[in-house]
Amino acid sequence: MQLTAPSQVIERQLSKLTNNLLILNHENDTLHTQLKQNGFDVCTLHFDFQHHLNIPNDPTCTFGVQLTHHEPEQFDQIIVFYPKSKAFAQYLLHLAAFYLNPNGILWVVGDNRSGVKQLSKQIPDFFEPCRKLDQARHCLLFETSKQKSCIRFEMEDWFAEMMVQTPHGALSIASLPGVFSHKKLDQGTLLMLENLPKLKGRVLDFGCGYGVIACAIAKQFPHCDIEAVDINAMALESCRRTLSLNQCHGKVYPSNGLHQVDGLFDAIVSNPPFHDGIQHDLRVTKQFILDSRRCLKKNGQWQIVVNTHLKYTDIIQQAFKQSTIKAQTTQFKIFHSA
Ligand SMILES: C[S@@+](CC[C@H](N)C(=O)[O-])C[C@H]1O[C@@H](n2cnc3c(N)ncnc32)[C@H](O)[C@@H]1O
Repeated sequence: MQLTAPSQVIERQLSKLTNNLLILNHENDTLHTQLKQNGFDVCTLHFDFQHHLNIPNDPTCTFGVQLTHHEPEQFDQIIVFYPKSKAFAQYLLHLAAFYLNPNGILWVVGDNRSGVKQLSKQIPDFFEPCRKLDQARHCLLFETSKQKSCIRFEMEDWFAEMMVQTPHGALSIASLPGVFSHKKLDQGTLLMLENLPKLKGRVLDFGCGYGVIACAIAKQFPHCDIEAVDINAMALESCRRTLSLNQCHGKVYPSNGLHQVDGLFDAIVSNPPFHDGIQHDLRVTKQFILDSRRCLKKNGQWQIVVNTHLKYTDIIQQAFKQSTIKAQTTQFKIFHSA
């Protein structure tokens, strides 16, 4: 598997890397394995489940929102792969400050379009001012070092909570930085909440984000067995918290598309993704539409909300033969099939 452009920039600087190393927000490649083969003692935290699956069965790789068995100030060097969300970048930089030894080295690498250029304005004051170390492959690599101790990092501090009015009452929502529509309800999601079908049995919320759809279903149809999947660790953690804030239950787990989902459902609902990182990308949703059919019981219900300008009609037709547009605004459309 080819290294991503930011990883290639790291590869150019291998001789400057320290041995006791942590990578935060590892990309969709096998840099971790490559570094190990070069003799580095390296741990990795993945926030994207698909990226995590590229490096199977390696206990030094974690999928989650933080490391599970590590002490603060444990690593000599940390590499942060800069994300597209500024709020999530702050989370990563604070996590880096927490895990980094006093005087430890921080590298931050990112695509020019990711916002990494503004790093010097965003870097928390645990760190010295950053300096540019390399520039290649349309990416920038910055270096700094830790100047202040930072041994507090509480997940609690990172959840934003908000009340959302739904047609079925108010829900408390918890969302972590970087999760879709952080701190505000998406209008497409709202349209879905206003048009939920009558549900029973085993129900899947695909691409659950902070779990507002799953939670609204659990409230309105308390006898449903809800399952909520997402590829993103911050989304899954937010969804678990949203369910618990509203005294609702559901099985929340990582899945890339429907690959990690087993068995048949009475219903699948979704506000599916239309981005892959920085780019517009409909492939995940097109595959989800095609795969939905095999995960549904006979006469199972299927409902998604999408942007009106995105072209899904043909693929929905291919998967379901019969579907209706249940609701529509200038911006969003709900497709339903039963
Ligand atoms: C448009 S957001 C909707 C979130 C939430 N349902 C809502 O309405 O607020 C789509 C979600 O799909 C997730 N996602 C993206 N790619 C995915 C994939 N390959 N498999 C599963 N989930 C994915 C994203 O992390 C994101 O949380």
